[in-house]
Amino acid sequence: MAAKIVVVGSANTDMVIKTERLPKPGETVLGGQFATVQGGKGANQAVAAARLGGKVTFVTRLGTDSFGRIAAAAYQTEGINLDFLVWDDAAPSGVALILVNKNGENIIAVAPGANANLAPDDVLRAEPAIRKADCMLLQLEIPLPTVQTAAELARRHGVRVILNPAPAAELSDDLYRNVDVLTPNESEAALLAGAETDLPASDLARKLRALTRIPVIVLTMGDKGALTLIEQEENLTPAFEIEAIDTVAAGDAFNGGLAVALGNGQDLPTALRFASAAGAIAATRSGAQPSLPTLQEVKAFLAR
Ligand code: RIB
Repeated sequence: MAAKIVVVGSANTDMVIKTERLPKPGETVLGGQFATVQGGKGANQAVAAARLGGKVTFVTRLGTDSFGRIAAAAYQTEGINLDFLVWDDAAPSGVALILVNKNGENIIAVAPGANANLAPDDVLRAEPAIRKADCMLLQLEIPLPTVQTAAELARRHGVRVILNPAPAAELSDDLYRNVDVLTPNESEAALLAGAETDLPASDLARKLRALTRIPVIVLTMGDKGALTLIEQEENLTPAFEIEAIDTVAAGDAFNGGLAVALGNGQDLPTALRFASAAGAIAATRSGAQPSLPTLQEVKAFLAR
């Protein structure tokens, strides 16, 4: 049976320009291609999980504008359950402005719009889906009380919670206590742990663990792989060798893959390999949701 995943999170329309290099403050650089694509960390993770075989319910807010309508139609095409999508008359849909340089690195600014109104009550209404889920997937592009309510509700129903703390923000013990797996990248981990960014990965993960007491810390490190800390045991999932052209949503593909694999009952090392493959494929393609692989693509990649 397909893993049942509930994603509570943001939905954006991404406006992307490819540039040779990223501009400095006050500088204008002439860009290349421009594209408008579906994005938003919550939506990307929901779509990633759906393409990888998960049965996904997405709890989100969209404005009643054309961006919102186009986004909802796209999620529907992916087979995502939108029973708990909230249409917001008061705010526009979320938008992200993204620049991607020739090495695939990016800078992103988000205007949250309706995402900023996703409320604890919106999550409570989704209890019928949450109660039956195998896994809940959370990020930080929506208000923290909403993230906290979602994690609490999932915990109450014995549903495993994965928190991808992106974009990084100061979090409380009340949230940490209801999280089972934390998946920061190195800069997010440093911010959460109040540590220097050049702290060795192992020390960073241990510091984060001491602070949060979350049972599983997965520190994602791009081409250096993912470092996992469970109790005192540390493991490195090596990165796949790829040529990255655009890392936007690679982390979202990883988190979506992790949720599906864990939701399907796979052990952590197998789930991490699956998630890493999904992330690696996404980094070889342009755009957020257009880059997210299907289950068949990940299987073929792993079988190479
Ligand atoms: O994680 C990538 C996403 O971050 C983009 O799709 C953009 O919308 C921002 O939310």
